[in-house]
Amino acid sequence: MTPTDSAVWQKLAKLAKTITQQPLSQLLKEQNRQSALCLSLNGCRFDFTKQRISLSHLPTLERLAESQEVHLKRDAMLAGAHINNSEDRAALHTALRGSANLADPAIEQEIQNVCARMYDIADRIRSGQWRGHTDKPISDIVHIGIGGSHLGPQLVVEALVDWSIAKLNIHFVANIDATDLERTLKTLSPETTLFIIASKSFSTVETQVNARSARSWFLERGGSMQDVRRHFLVITNNIDAAAEFGLPEANLLPMWDWVGGRFSLWSTVGLAIVLKIGAVNHKALLAGAKTADDHFKRQPTMSNVPMLQSLLATWNYNFLGAASLVVLSYDERLRLLPNFLQQLEMESNGKSVDLDGNSVNFHTMPILWGGTGTNGQHAYHQLLHQGTRAYTADFIVVGHDDRHKREHHDWLVANALAQSQAMAEGFQSDGQPHRDVAGNHPSTVITLPILAPHELGTLLAVYEHKVFCQAAIWNINAFDQWGVELGKNLAEPIYAALSGDVLKHAFDPSTAELIKDIKKPQNPL
Ligand code: F6P
Repeated sequence: MTPTDSAVWQKLAKLAKTITQQPLSQLLKEQNRQSALCLSLNGCRFDFTKQRISLSHLPTLERLAESQEVHLKRDAMLAGAHINNSEDRAALHTALRGSANLADPAIEQEIQNVCARMYDIADRIRSGQWRGHTDKPISDIVHIGIGGSHLGPQLVVEALVDWSIAKLNIHFVANIDATDLERTLKTLSPETTLFIIASKSFSTVETQVNARSARSWFLERGGSMQDVRRHFLVITNNIDAAAEFGLPEANLLPMWDWVGGRFSLWSTVGLAIVLKIGAVNHKALLAGAKTADDHFKRQPTMSNVPMLQSLLATWNYNFLGAASLVVLSYDERLRLLPNFLQQLEMESNGKSVDLDGNSVNFHTMPILWGGTGTNGQHAYHQLLHQGTRAYTADFIVVGHDDRHKREHHDWLVANALAQSQAMAEGFQSDGQPHRDVAGNHPSTVITLPILAPHELGTLLAVYEHKVFCQAAIWNINAFDQWGVELGKNLAEPIYAALSGDVLKHAFDPSTAELIKDIKKPQNPL
């Protein structure tokens, strides 16, 4: 049902008006705030105590989850119902970590078989058994893919750098801008490079063009069409299209239509992860996600991390006017977390119609942005502390000093905590308004005890479930992304106009002029 029609939504709107009389500095002192708003999951601490909400409001928030039937929708997702109604598909990424409640055991068996094949291929590459066409072992992997076929694998490979078991260098190419591919290939040898072409649809233009250019690079440097099979692997749901690329079935790892791209890092799309950290660590990553799945399935609403997280997000976006979510990773290894979450949260929940196709009369997902601490403190934190817009922040902190550099780590953590404290409490100067900091900005501090596969799996699965709960509350479809289609379609005639001689298409005057200008002979530098 439309959330705004519910009595509980109206009640929350009233409560939000009263919160302006309660500064966050005062709310922080509420009794039992820690036990109510600080949750633990797999040793990770999700501290919501700096959210701008009173404990007395929580039961109303809980009723919102009930009225939007979040639990029923969760169970439907886990049972494989076609909750992605616009594409008539299930959303079964939880099956990849053995957490779905499937009636058909064949799916689980198939997942295991494919996973075993993926581990075997990775073992052969890593051990040097898999050899290039001149009989040299593989030293470099170039993963070509974009969106969900890129962001998750690159994030995990970087985040788990300390868990690497292989000397392999892993490179990622996503952008259709030739610079991306060229600068990657510049230092590589075709004899020792293996390309992974990851594309669920195998029709994404960026990946298609990059894959063809990579194959040309290989062929122009001594490789033959016959040798391509030693240097290219394909991961896709589009088996026929992949075969047209010139590869036998043995070079193809399937993925399934019931795994959404942005939820797919746990699937064969994560081959680069397996290559780098090995099967044991990969299993730990999946197990960490399963721990989050089990928690999500069993915990009551207000002690259920993703449910509480999404309810508080709704409170921030729809009742306190938060216009963005800033994700601040206080760990260099998690520098790509904001990029990953941008797709996960914004592609999933940046929607304007509900599940029945009706326009929504409330705001859905705001802008998600962010970066690494402490760098951001010397760039955009000025706006966070003294700007005029409401926002909410997620701080990600790792407790263990993995670098064994105590001074660095203590300063890093001190800065994260100081920033969230400043956002909450602000500062009142003695009559110098330019120094005043308003405070009252809600934030969540997520602390991982250590950045290890198990903990990372938990963190990422929590965000996946948060996204799902958020969509359930808003009654929207988190699993389609029709909005990206228009731009893809419009690019085709523009591409034809740029690469052909005449403008055949009736473009709007602005676009037509831009095309003409770009087609003008340019002055070489
Ligand atoms: O940009 C839209 C999108 O379809 C994403 O949802 C997806 O993750 C990405 O493109 C890549 O798609 P594919 O894996 O099919 O190449």
